[in-house]
Amino acid sequence: MTRKVHIKTYGCQMNVYDSQRMADVLAPIGYATADTPEGADLVILNTCHIREKAADKVYSELGRLAKLKAAKDGMMIAVAGCVAQAEGAEISRRAPAVDIVVGPQAYHRLPQMIAEIHRGAGRRLDTEFPALDKFDALPAASGATGPARFLTVQEGCDKFCTFCVVPYTRGAEYSRRAASIIAEARNMVATGAREITLLGQNVNAYSAEGPDGKDWGLARLIRALAEIDGLARIRYTTSHPRDMGDDLIAAHGEVPALMPFLHLPVQSGSDKILDAMNRKHTADEYRRLIDRLRHARADLALSSDFIVGFPGESDADFAATMQLIRDVGFVQAFSFKYSRRPGTPASAMPKQIAEPAKDARLQELQEELFRQQTAFNLSLTGQTLPVLFDRPGRNPGQVAGRSPFLQSVHVTGPLSLIGSVAMVEITGGSQNSLGGQLAHAEAA
Ligand code: 5AD
Ligand code: SF4
Repeated sequence: MTRKVHIKTYGCQMNVYDSQRMADVLAPIGYATADTPEGADLVILNTCHIREKAADKVYSELGRLAKLKAAKDGMMIAVAGCVAQAEGAEISRRAPAVDIVVGPQAYHRLPQMIAEIHRGAGRRLDTEFPALDKFDALPAASGATGPARFLTVQEGCDKFCTFCVVPYTRGAEYSRRAASIIAEARNMVATGAREITLLGQNVNAYSAEGPDGKDWGLARLIRALAEIDGLARIRYTTSHPRDMGDDLIAAHGEVPALMPFLHLPVQSGSDKILDAMNRKHTADEYRRLIDRLRHARADLALSSDFIVGFPGESDADFAATMQLIRDVGFVQAFSFKYSRRPGTPASAMPKQIAEPAKDARLQELQEELFRQQTAFNLSLTGQTLPVLFDRPGRNPGQVAGRSPFLQSVHVTGPLSLIGSVAMVEITGGSQNSLGGQLAHAEAA
């Protein structure tokens, strides 16, 4: 009998990848995916715990699902991901309709948990960090399709930034063996992937055994992946400035498949705040790192994460962040108001910032970032860029893809372009995307 699973994903790209792997692990036991919870026998919320708002969303969704479940016989609700890991017991208390709570390290055990429930075992909770590599316990082939895919190579974080829950929810840094990653990447390319984004909470801290028995860092891994025939593009995210080694910087200049776009969160431009955040570098060290990266790859486009209103952030500290943004220039960024997370050191710090001050700073910061983003996009007008087409466009007759710098690019053209890289002459841009026309003579 075919059953249906609906998976709703919150948060980062690692959850997007995990959701796909959950679908992969459920397929052999008869679950096909459903687009809506209404049509599903099993609904999985793959959750994010990074900020309070993200966690709150899960509880309101669970309220809606509980009603759906009450009206429908035999529906199961599972909570996966970081809220499951961090608040397993609380979920059971606040949302009694939940049947399964499964942490990010345990989802390969979903089939077993579902079978136990069918046998009448009652609610299941598994938030262990098993010694075994969960990736080795998952099906080798993935049902993922599409030319641009994610591949998790590293999980967890040992950095302990004082605002962040990740070291608690995702545990210590762990890197997958290079041979298993290369095999998965080959499989992806064989099934149509042209671009792979390597994922990790701290992906540039990647360190694991290579096929030659030596220890490989991320740069070595990227160089090996770049040799896979048919793999046109490699990206990686998210990185920490402290782990940006010489070999990785050099790879940006030497590996053509490594795209000229780097997400390198700095969080703040104030040394006092960076210290209080336990980021382990200064604002000037970040500036010098960017200089070295741009020396290796002149057209490297930068992206970052920022937090405003961290405890103790003065007007001068915030001004230092604004200065750093003007000095470096970002083509894209994520910015957040500091959110107090229970159990993290910063949540107990004095001088918490009032909400209105956070709002005002966020607005000022975002205005500058959006201005830089729009200016960068407009500056590409007239250039011809390789675009990897990966989806139909907004309007009929249009097709959309990504530039090397990760912006969406929309052109008039046939859907048969999906899956290929073609040259596009950029004719205009806005804050969020580029428009262009196919440069037929040069099309690859
Ligand atoms: N409050 C606000 N933003 C946070 N981030 C992580 N923890 C918090 C928090 N407590 C942001 C950081 C990080 C991104 C993934 O989320 O900027 O880089
Ligand atoms: Fe969180 Fe800092 Fe680790 Fe990033 S580096 S996951 S912000 S603790």
